[in-house]
Amino acid sequence: MIKSLAYLGVRSPSYQEWERFGPEVLGLQVAGHGPDGAVRLRLDEVAQRIVIHPGERNAVAYIGWSVQDEAAAMTVARRVNAHGLEAVRAGAEECAERKVEGFVWFKDPSGFRHELSWGLHHTVAAFHPGRAISGFRTADQGLGHVVLAVQDLDEGDRFYREVMGFYPSDTVRDGPLVAHFYHLNGRHHSLAISALPTREVAFLHLMIEVNAIDDVGTAHDICQQREIPITTTLGKHSNDRMFSFYMYTPSCFRLEYGWGGLDVDPDLWTPRTYDKPSSWGHRRQHAELTALKLDEA
Ligand SMILES: [Fe+2]
Repeated sequence: MIKSLAYLGVRSPSYQEWERFGPEVLGLQVAGHGPDGAVRLRLDEVAQRIVIHPGERNAVAYIGWSVQDEAAAMTVARRVNAHGLEAVRAGAEECAERKVEGFVWFKDPSGFRHELSWGLHHTVAAFHPGRAISGFRTADQGLGHVVLAVQDLDEGDRFYREVMGFYPSDTVRDGPLVAHFYHLNGRHHSLAISALPTREVAFLHLMIEVNAIDDVGTAHDICQQREIPITTTLGKHSNDRMFSFYMYTPSCFRLEYGWGGLDVDPDLWTPRTYDKPSSWGHRRQHAELTALKLDEA
């Protein structure tokens, strides 16, 4: 029913830093500004994929998903309602701001705002990366993946599978770490969830995938030159085989910059369990840096 991760919205006091951070570090293109001054960023033909709004504190504002059409959104919305949560049809102004034909939104049991959108606006003018990179792997696989720390892992697992319709890819069980991964298309996962020992809800990271291994290397060089905190060192994930590292963005969320993610065939895939999240590398550092919280507005 849900096809892919479409877009991500964040609020941040340092939203203006994305004018340079987006193009110069990540290779994104600034695609104008929202009515509130938001920095709109593109990474392919879609009009906007990452939107950083002004805000008093850093918080994830919305997670946008693509559905086929309004009927598909309403089917999921009915399941959300049946689960005792309210799904709301967005007005014309909000749809124009998101650059979609329409969307329905709701808050999941942990409080994350999801938007089920149809008719994602595409820009005819070619994507112009902010620095010399090969481009991003998106198309049918969408923007990338998001990883959320939910309040209750079992409740979250049921909600994302049974209500939102995600397909399980695998689970990582490494001592106290348990994480569930879900796919929607050929990307190994578009969503993963975990629970923190504190049961605190947080936005753990956004992953975007480049087309060439060298693009990961140059991003790594730039982070080191600019002293951008690398929160997870270079490494390769066990389950999606992604070669990546994680950096700390100006808006206090971690961004995984990856290459070489595994393609899955949703019709043939059988869920697995792994005993480690990475086959090598991916050492965590800068644990003192906070995770991105939810928007309480
Ligand atoms: Fe990831």
